[in-house]
Amino acid sequence: MKIRKAKIKDLDILEIISKEQFKVKKLQPRFKLLLKDNSYHIQIIEEKGAVIGFIIIKFLYENLIDIYSIAIKKEYQNRGYGYKLLSRVLKNFHKYKITLEVSEDNVAKKLYLKCGFKIDSVRKGYYGNNDAILMSFYKLEPGSEES
Ligand SMILES: CC(C)(COP(=O)(O)OP(=O)(O)OC[C@H]1O[C@@H](n2cnc3c(N)ncnc32)[C@H](O)[C@@H]1OP(=O)(O)O)[C@@H](O)C(=O)NCCC(=O)NCCS
Repeated sequence: MKIRKAKIKDLDILEIISKEQFKVKKLQPRFKLLLKDNSYHIQIIEEKGAVIGFIIIKFLYENLIDIYSIAIKKEYQNRGYGYKLLSRVLKNFHKYKITLEVSEDNVAKKLYLKCGFKIDSVRKGYYGNNDAILMSFYKLEPGSEES
């Protein structure tokens, strides 16, 4: 298993995974643009040399980032890869506050709770029948206090 920064050469496989996992077109990340945009950072996870998933981070402010998207190929889901990928991001960006939004019925909510995200607020009926859950993760530096 390897986690690394995505490159232009990964474009095709990123789009394939995205189309498989996000049936609604507007949820499919536009990788061609994102790979060239410095406000986004894409990490991919590989198994035996094959790309099996990605995570996209969006830099919002100096110390604030957002989990823009995460997906693992169907046949590799529920085997801990999403956890490994997100954990790596939390480790690499430990000085940042990290936010995200997820539909209450999405299994990703369990992944985020498992990784230590806390629920900040709920947007009732944001996705029609389902609520949107706003979550955040902030690992305070030892000795520091939340203001
Ligand atoms: C969300 C997603 C990235 C999770 O990745 P994953 O590799 O399958 O997740 P993991 O195997 O690391 O599981 C992490 C936790 O999520 C939960 N989980 C994952 N898949 C699950 C499933 N099929 N059923 C029930 N719980 C599940 C479990 O609580 C699990 O922890 P546990 O095994 O200790 O109980 C993956 O399901 C996916 O690509 N979904 C489609 C795209 C999507 O909706 N992305 C999120 C919104 S942007």
